[in-house]
Amino acid sequence: MNISMRVNGKPVEAEVEPQELLVERIREDLELTGTKVGCDTGQCGTCVVSLNGVSVKSCLVLTVQADDSELTTIEGVSPGEGLSDLQEALRREHGTQCGFCTPGMVMSLRDLLSREEDPSEQRIREWLTGNLCRCTGYQSIVRGVQGVAAVPGS
Ligand code: FES
Ligand code: FES
Repeated sequence: MNISMRVNGKPVEAEVEPQELLVERIREDLELTGTKVGCDTGQCGTCVVSLNGVSVKSCLVLTVQADDSELTTIEGVSPGEGLSDLQEALRREHGTQCGFCTPGMVMSLRDLLSREEDPSEQRIREWLTGNLCRCTGYQSIVRGVQGVAAVPGS
C-alpha cells in the first residue's frame, strides 16, 4: 500500500506492507532512532510519538494507519540547538538518568502540557502510567514537568 505523511514537517511517501508497525517505519526506514523500543507490546512507552497531535505508542500502530497524518518524533521537537523548555526542565531536575525512557516521556508529556497548563502532581503521575522509568523513581520527572511553563511545542 502506498502511504504519504508528514514526518517532522517533511513529506514522506512509501510503499509499505500491511503488517508493518509504525515504530519499524520510524526507526528502520526513516532512521529516526530517538524513538526507542523497550517492550514491543505496548507496556513501556519508550516508543511514544505524536500522531496528529496526540501521543501514541508507535509499537501499537500500523504504518498504514498513519497514512495522511502529521507524525512528530523526538527529533522533531528539539530545537536546532539546545533543548526544548520541557527537555531542559527534565535535565535540570535530573529527570533523566540512562535516558532510555526519556524520548517517550517527552512525547507523552508534551501532549499533557498541550491540554493542561498546570497539571497537578497526581495528574502527571496518572498521565505517566503508560511510561515506565527504571532509573529515576519519577519524582524528578514530576518536578521537571511542574517546573516548566505550558508552552505549546515544549
Ligand atoms: S515499545 Fe511500545 S510500549 Fe514498549
Ligand atoms: S532514565 Fe533510565 S529508564 Fe528512565
